[in-house]
Amino acid sequence: MRSHYCGQVTEALTGQTVTVCGWVHRRRDHGGVIFIDLRDREGLLQCVFDPDTQEAFAAADKLRSEYVVKISGRVRPRPAGTENANLATGKVELLAKDIELLNRAETPPFHLDDETVGEDTRLKYRYIDLRRPQMQKNLRLRHDVIKRIRDFMDANGFVDVETPILTKATPEGARDYLVPSRTHPGKFFALPQSPQLFKQLLMMSGLDRYYQIARCFRDEDLRADRQPEFTQLDVETSFLTQEQIMALIEGLVKDLFQGVLGVDLGTLPHMSYEEAMRRYGSDKPDLRNPLELVDVKDLVADVDFKVFAAPAVDPKCRVTALRVPGGAKLSRGEIDKYTEFVKIYGARGLAYIVVDDKAKGRDGLRSPIVKNLHDAALAGILERSGAQTGDVIFFGADKSKVVSDALGALRLKIGNDLGLTAGGWRALWVVDWPMFEWDEDDSRWVSLHHPFTAPKPFDAAALRADPGATLSQGYDIVLNGVEIGGGSVRIHAPDVQQAVFDLLGIGAEEQQEKFGFLLEALSYGAPPHGGLALGLDRLVMLMAGGQSIREVIAFPKTQTAFDPLTQAPSEVDARSLRELSIRSTVQPKEAPGS
Ligand code: AMO
Ligand code: AMP
Repeated sequence: MRSHYCGQVTEALTGQTVTVCGWVHRRRDHGGVIFIDLRDREGLLQCVFDPDTQEAFAAADKLRSEYVVKISGRVRPRPAGTENANLATGKVELLAKDIELLNRAETPPFHLDDETVGEDTRLKYRYIDLRRPQMQKNLRLRHDVIKRIRDFMDANGFVDVETPILTKATPEGARDYLVPSRTHPGKFFALPQSPQLFKQLLMMSGLDRYYQIARCFRDEDLRADRQPEFTQLDVETSFLTQEQIMALIEGLVKDLFQGVLGVDLGTLPHMSYEEAMRRYGSDKPDLRNPLELVDVKDLVADVDFKVFAAPAVDPKCRVTALRVPGGAKLSRGEIDKYTEFVKIYGARGLAYIVVDDKAKGRDGLRSPIVKNLHDAALAGILERSGAQTGDVIFFGADKSKVVSDALGALRLKIGNDLGLTAGGWRALWVVDWPMFEWDEDDSRWVSLHHPFTAPKPFDAAALRADPGATLSQGYDIVLNGVEIGGGSVRIHAPDVQQAVFDLLGIGAEEQQEKFGFLLEALSYGAPPHGGLALGLDRLVMLMAGGQSIREVIAFPKTQTAFDPLTQAPSEVDARSLRELSIRSTVQPKEAPGS
């Protein structure tokens, strides 16, 4: 129907007759001349109807927002002074000769230029929302990234293999989405939280290099960077060391940034988990932010201030300072707001010292706690934190996790609030993770990665002897404070896998029932193997400059895992449930989504 996309009609076509199809973005009536901004996926084109072309003019007069039309006419330069530098087509306009109305539209629930529309409305009318140029751009960017991933993986000898969606639970730490089986009453499939076990089996099958753009399903609390179904670039390799796998993935990520955005990410630094937690209070530090935590435990063990002194002598606690350059300008009210903010993370308070004049010593400090700190402690804190006149030092004193979470989050917040966080791109690898973390509430070990991650050294006896001190061969890739991927070298020996299951408190029977097939496969010649998965949605979100992965997913779900467009999840009739041998305990009117 068309000769050109609207967005492609530039001055190169001046004088030519073209036909374009698209949606009416805006209609303006300028004293007898009608302007239609026509939109298609490539952009906007200004079409002009003057009263000389009577029929077309009359038809244009009846157009409304989002009507679908076909317009033919001659491309001509816009009159001097009326060019629009923001549009690729901004130097020209189409003098319309013929117009055909292809379809009408109801008055749309929002205008595409309206940035204030609520997300529920945007998702309910997603097909209209996706007409926005920014959304079109995001989906095209996602396409470009996937295309480049496939080219890179192919060039590096990777084979794309699909793995089942109806399968058995894979423990990645979230709840499973379950699918009842009609043919096996009382039994359920689980949707995969990742293809983890299948990709390991593919290594045991001798495939050597596997990848997949894989959909994953996790029933977990949702946030801006979490969806119940999301997409991974899933990768697994055989006979490569941890360093080789990381180098390969780093090559891919650098290639994506170079090829799609023209950005050189440089060589990614490696940082241990311990260092990341100690300096940034986070296992995914944003290195664009210059603020750092410093521990002052040793300086305050004998001070006359219980809030500091008690955790200072408790091995499970941290006493930590966060120096904010220029923070002395914060008002009392602002400091109170930060005190409320850290409480979200379990902190019980936020002690602080404002350094009004360092030269004046104790008298130059403003703080509710200095009276409780002796000279040596105070001098030590000022020195170690590097505090200068005009700074503020915040403190956290509590269980290590609480302090890291609270000051780690405060660091990010203040970095943004005070404009201290730089722009650009900062990526790194986080390595040397502990194998396990002790769960205080349940009194048991839990994996920091998944239970298939190899310990360092790869030895069952050493692992059993000191599980808390054993590091893993796991690695995360972090970009601008977002975990964009994670992986590990896997366990390829049945005795080591058994030891991990034992330590996690997965009994012999449960091991057989849940992972019997894996343990068996490990006994039939499993090669050393390892891999990683990149969170594709997160990666594309960052590349698009977005704040939420919902901006780069065509049909995402809301924060409560609901789809306002299709109204899924929805109730099913009694007969369907009967066929599945399922009876709901929910009264119909309380069903989710209603
Ligand atoms: P992991 O659980 O770390 O590892 O997931 C890999 C990456 O997937 C992304 N991601 C998510 N993105 C959007 N919504 C979610 N709910 C979500 N959950 C995770 C993150 C994360 O870094 N099988 C292992 C990989 C491996 O060991 O090879 C796995 O799934 O960016
Ligand atoms: P208090 O002795 O409770 O009046 O607290 C004195 C100062 O210490 C206040 O500024 C509190 O916000 C702060 N504070 C209290 N508990 C903690 C804590 N666990 N970590 C850091 N600061 C705290």
